[in-house]
Order: sequence, then structure tokens, then C-alpha cells
Amino acid sequence: MTGADIDGVVGLQKLAFPPPFSEDLHWDPEHIAAHLSLFSEAQWVATIDGHIIGSCSNARISEASWQAHGSWGATMGGPMLRNFDPTGSTLYGLDITVHPDARKQGVGRAFYQARYQFVQDWKLTRYGTGCRLPDFRQFATSNPRVSVEEYAKRVVEGEVVDRTLTPLLTYKLKFLGVIENYMEDIESANAAALLEWNP
Ligand SMILES: CC(C)(COP(=O)(O)OP(=O)(O)OC[C@H]1O[C@@H](n2cnc3c(N)ncnc32)[C@H](O)[C@@H]1OP(=O)(O)O)[C@@H](O)C(=O)NCCC(=O)NCCS
Repeated sequence: MTGADIDGVVGLQKLAFPPPFSEDLHWDPEHIAAHLSLFSEAQWVATIDGHIIGSCSNARISEASWQAHGSWGATMGGPMLRNFDPTGSTLYGLDITVHPDARKQGVGRAFYQARYQFVQDWKLTRYGTGCRLPDFRQFATSNPRVSVEEYAKRVVEGEVVDRTLTPLLTYKLKFLGVIENYMEDIESANAAALLEWNP
């Protein structure tokens, strides 16, 4: 990703995180510019014929910050990444977005391969992230007694398909549990699946 890609990346956010996801949580141009100035090596786009069809943002966080398994806000210190640690042990996944017309063609997998390669090349301890559970809300309408944690476990077991967690699990990420109140995300009951990969 370069500064010339910022508008394309911001545009993709609107397509990939439509309502009811809050527009206030989309990246603004100044957020992306800050990520590029902090850690340009780990901000990536995927293109076809010069058009951006995917974006992937990453940060580095300290070991203590990873082990705290906190919310998105506590971990990163907001969209300007106030808690970015240039010597941190963990490559933290901030965002992965594939254009709706380009999905299920391996773009997400290619971004994940790049994440894992980065962890190895930079001799980091791990890749980690919090993953949305956006099909929980629909699932809960017919399964009102099932908690979001139990839902995530069923997705991990392959009993239930979630449009975000299911593809991510095919990238061999380890499921560590659910973080409640991870971010404002009504479809995921504000929760996220905590995922880790070790080299
Ligand atoms: C999640 C996302 C990044 C996946 O990207 P993608 O390029 O479509 O994924 P891939 O093509 O690498 O798919 C990986 C595997 O998951 C499967 N898969 C993809 N989408 C799926 C879905 N909606 N339901 C079930 N399986 C799915 C693919 O078929 C593929 O399976 P295979 O390895 O057996 O062939 C994409 O759907 C997206 O941008 N979603 C909106 C933004 C978002 O929620 N980002 C994550 C925030 S935590």
C-alpha cells in the first residue's frame, strides 16, 4: 500500500463493512496515512489491472498487550494506533478486506500467507487478531439460548458456518476463545474470536 491507494482502501471499507456495522469505525484517510507512516512494511493491497480489490492492515504490539487479550480499543489505542510498539513481539491483524466481487478466490488466503511470511521474516513470536462473528445475530434469532462463545465453538467444530470466522479458520489459525466487548459490532454481539498463529 502507498499513499496513492488511500482512497481505494477507504472505499473498500464501505463495501466490506456495510450497515449495521457502524460507519464511524471505518478507516478515515488520516488513519490509513498514520498506519503507513508507522508501519508501511505491513500495509498491503491486492490489485487486479491496477484496481484495488483487497486491503490488509497490520500493527506490532507488545507481548504484554497481546497477553492481556483486551478489546480492540485497549489493544491498539484507537484508529491512530497509539499503542503501536515498533519492537513488539506480535503482528496484530487490524483489518482484512476483500471486494465482494473478488471473494472465494483465495485473496484472503494470500494476505494470510503474507502475514505468516512476515512473522517469519521479522522473527516475531506470533500473528494474532480478533475476528468478527457477524452471523451470530441471525443464528441467535433461532437459537436464543446459545451464547456467542458457544456459537464460536460450533463454528470452530464446523457445525455452523460464519461468513468471517469460517474462512479465517481455513488459514490454520488457532482459536483461543472469545473476547466480549471487543468492539461495537451489533451482528457479533460486540464479541470477537481470539485467533493466533505461531511459526
Ligand atoms: C473474510 C474475507 C476476508 C475472506 O476473504 P476471501 O478472499 O473471500 O477468502 P478465501 O478466498 O481466501 O477463502 C478461504 C476459504 O474460505 C471459504 N470461504 C470464503 N468465504 C466463505 C463464506 N462466506 N462462507 C463459507 N466459506 C467461505 C473459501 O471457499 C475458501 O475455502 P477453501 O480453502 O476450502 O477453498 C472476506 O469475506 C471479506 O472481506 N469479508 C468482509 C470483511 C471482513 O469481515 N473482514 C474480516 C474482519 S475480522
